[in-house]
Amino acid sequence: MASAAVLRPAVHDDVEGLLAFDITVVVRTRDDWAAAIDKAARGERLLLVAEVEGVIAAFAQAHRLEQHPDDAAPAGWYLTGVTVLPLYRRAGLARRLTTARLAWIFARADESWYFANAQNTASIDLHTQLGFTEVARAAAIHGVRFDGGEGILFRRGATDPSTFG
Ligand SMILES: CC(C)(COP(=O)(O)OP(=O)(O)OC[C@H]1O[C@@H](n2cnc3c(N)ncnc32)[C@H](O)[C@@H]1OP(=O)(O)O)[C@@H](O)C(=O)NCCC(=O)NCCS
Repeated sequence: MASAAVLRPAVHDDVEGLLAFDITVVVRTRDDWAAAIDKAARGERLLLVAEVEGVIAAFAQAHRLEQHPDDAAPAGWYLTGVTVLPLYRRAGLARRLTTARLAWIFARADESWYFANAQNTASIDLHTQLGFTEVARAAAIHGVRFDGGEGILFRRGATDPSTFG
């Protein structure tokens, strides 16, 4: 099924489909999605979708974050918001979206960052396979606070080894 998925940058016609992702941490409005698509069109971020038989089954972003005033997480190029609709999980979509986003980041920088809730083993396993290693744990990372109280910051250098891509 994942092989039938088409990965491509999001366009405004995708907003209706993206509204299905109210399962994400931040519930996004139509205007939020439109603004994210416009930023991507200007090259300020990458917003990819995975389309399976006309359904937006997953999305993922990559962009630069400056240092947050309230915590120690560094400025840099971050993977954010990879989310796959439950019906389409465990078919390799997140891995494909993450490999594609890493290529985009490594065309701009020699390191990539990401953070997750310390309890999110699915996300941590996914990114560990892709070469990320833990840097620090904190209650808040880039202003995000975590259910359970702890998040983990991860880093991958462009030439670090990984199992996939
Ligand atoms: C985390 C998430 C994006 C994974 O998406 P997915 O398309 O199912 O992941 P993939 O099929 O590409 O899996 C790649 C690897 O990730 C790991 N993984 C994925 N789901 C997992 C799970 N439920 N438990 C443990 N490991 C998991 C595995 O190592 C897997 O490799 P394998 O299938 O060869 O064992 C998805 O579960 C999701 O949308 N979760 C809710 C949103 C979220 O937490 N996003 C991450 C925020 S940091």
